[in-house]
Amino acid sequence: MRLRLPTFLVLSSAATLSLASRGKGQHKAASCTLVASGGDDAPQFLSAVKSCTTVVIPKTTTLNINSRLNMTGLSNTHIDLAGTIKFSPDIPYWTGNGFFIPFQSQITFWLVGGKNIHLSGGGTLDGSGQVWYDAFASNSTLLRPIILTITQASDVVVENITMINSPEWHNLINESKNVVYRNIHINAASTSSHTAKNTDGWNIYRSDNVVITDSVINNGDDCVAFKPNATNILVANLNCTGSHGISVGSLGQYPGMFDIVENVIARNIRMSNAQNGARIKAWAGPNVGSGIVKNITFDGFIESKVDHPVIIDQCYMTNATACAQFPSNTFIQDIWFNNISGTGTSSTVAQLTCSPDGRCKNINVNNLHLAAPAGTAKYTCQNVVLSGNSASLFPNCTVT
Ligand SMILES: *[C@@H]1O[C@H](CO)[C@@H](O)[C@H](O)[C@H]1NC(C)=O
Ligand SMILES: *[C@@H]1O[C@H](CO)[C@@H](O)[C@H](O)[C@H]1NC(C)=O
Ligand SMILES: *[C@@H]1O[C@H](CO)[C@@H](O)[C@H](O)[C@H]1NC(C)=O
Ligand SMILES: *[C@@H]1O[C@H](CO)[C@@H](O)[C@H](O)[C@H]1NC(C)=O
Ligand SMILES: *[C@@H]1O[C@H](CO)[C@@H](O)[C@H](O)[C@H]1NC(C)=O
Ligand SMILES: *[C@@H]1O[C@H](CO)[C@@H](O)[C@H](O)[C@H]1NC(C)=O
Ligand SMILES: *[C@@H]1O[C@H](CO)[C@@H](O)[C@H](O)[C@H]1NC(C)=O
Ligand SMILES: *[C@@H]1O[C@H](CO)[C@@H](O)[C@H](O)[C@H]1NC(C)=O
Ligand SMILES: *[C@@H]1O[C@H](CO)[C@@H](O)[C@H](O)[C@H]1NC(C)=O
Ligand SMILES: *[C@@H]1O[C@H](CO)[C@@H](O)[C@H](O)[C@H]1NC(C)=O
Repeated sequence: MRLRLPTFLVLSSAATLSLASRGKGQHKAASCTLVASGGDDAPQFLSAVKSCTTVVIPKTTTLNINSRLNMTGLSNTHIDLAGTIKFSPDIPYWTGNGFFIPFQSQITFWLVGGKNIHLSGGGTLDGSGQVWYDAFASNSTLLRPIILTITQASDVVVENITMINSPEWHNLINESKNVVYRNIHINAASTSSHTAKNTDGWNIYRSDNVVITDSVINNGDDCVAFKPNATNILVANLNCTGSHGISVGSLGQYPGMFDIVENVIARNIRMSNAQNGARIKAWAGPNVGSGIVKNITFDGFIESKVDHPVIIDQCYMTNATACAQFPSNTFIQDIWFNNISGTGTSSTVAQLTCSPDGRCKNINVNNLHLAAPAGTAKYTCQNVVLSGNSASLFPNCTVT
């Protein structure tokens, strides 16, 4: 039996049954299966999320997305992606038509918003990043798209998804709450000499209650970054390779803005070949913003070949003289670095650089076991009163 629906919707038997018995006020089919159209699959994908509760993209299907996907305002939607969603490598189209993201001036291929949204299925989101990595090498102002932006959403689960070669960040969470990612594989790898720059795993912005667990990330920028107003976050069981670390910030950059990052736990993290391990960075200097970083725990990091395994930089982008003259207006307090072991790439394995005037408060270090590649490991420190069983490793700071 064939119902009168757009021809691209191949109904499963479950959908047929549900359509036959759908109640009043219910205008959605239960399940629709998409097959590739041979052209731009964005229109059929957009129609399907409007008309079906579950949109199935089978294992053998690759949807080619040549135009932007605005999926805001969804409700009770499941995208069951076993196949692939591939974003076209059409630089002129995307730079002109990608959704603009004002924060740090970026664009995105795909906006997802609304409530009760589930993306899963074992499939792949492919950002076709190589052309972007090559183009960015000769145009440093090139606007590059984020693959997936969850925006103004609540109760979202993204699980069992592989994301490859985003032109820019893989995930942005903006103005959302109750968002879970688990079992995500991220791999951004350039095949040319131009590296996959700014390919962050996740950035969390103006969002509350976000969980990211059980994932493997291989990329060229932050593994996870907590941007302004990221609160109540759990990040656990991640394997990050090649990244810039698990990062709070940078915060306090924009004059007139107040940035909050509060109640974060990052636990059981394996960090390899990375620029940073556990990091907090805040701007100092004239003409910057302000904010507070509060109640952050980094616990159980195993690090290998990491440039800065443990780092607080409250004088970000500011030299020591300027940082003393214009201390950071972003306060950093109630911070725990616990159970962090492994190797750095230079003699300095931990550095806690704070503005004067006690703007870092209640900083705790426990069970730090970090080795330099050769010789004695250095734990450097400025303007901090430290607590915890590893505080004495930092000779230049006061210990409580
Ligand atoms: C996305 O679609 C919604 C609903 O149609 C619309 O209100 C909104 O302006 C669109 N967003 C963008 C960024 O175009
Ligand atoms: C976050 O969402 C709001 C509301 O849609 C929008 O105005 C803002 O530009 C978005 N910010 C980013 C960084 O995407
Ligand atoms: C996700 O994968 C896990 C482990 O592979 C499996 O147990 C779970 O059922 C999957 N969930 C979904 C919604 O596919
Ligand atoms: C670089 O990219 C920007 C933004 O995408 C664009 O406006 C500009 O024309 C590009 N510059 C060159 C030299 O192609
Ligand atoms: C984690 O990453 C390391 C280094 O890339 C790798 O050797 C290890 O097998 C990975 N473990 C998992 C569970 O993916
Ligand atoms: C963060 O939240 C505070 C308090 O609600 C607000 O004043 C501030 O403007 C927010 N900052 C940003 C960057 O959204
Ligand atoms: C600190 O943050 C964690 C993680 O969100 C939370 O469970 C805990 O209650 C917070 N502690 C305080 C004192 O707010
Ligand atoms: C420190 O930064 C200030 C302001 O940017 C600059 O004027 C000064 O020359 C710098 N001092 C040193 C020692 O680099
Ligand atoms: C981490 O450190 C705390 C003390 O700071 C300790 O109680 C806890 O057992 C440690 N956890 C692990 C997994 O080693
Ligand atoms: C401590 O401070 C002294 C004097 O400024 C400096 O020579 C030494 O390198 C510092 N030690 C560490 C571990 O930072």
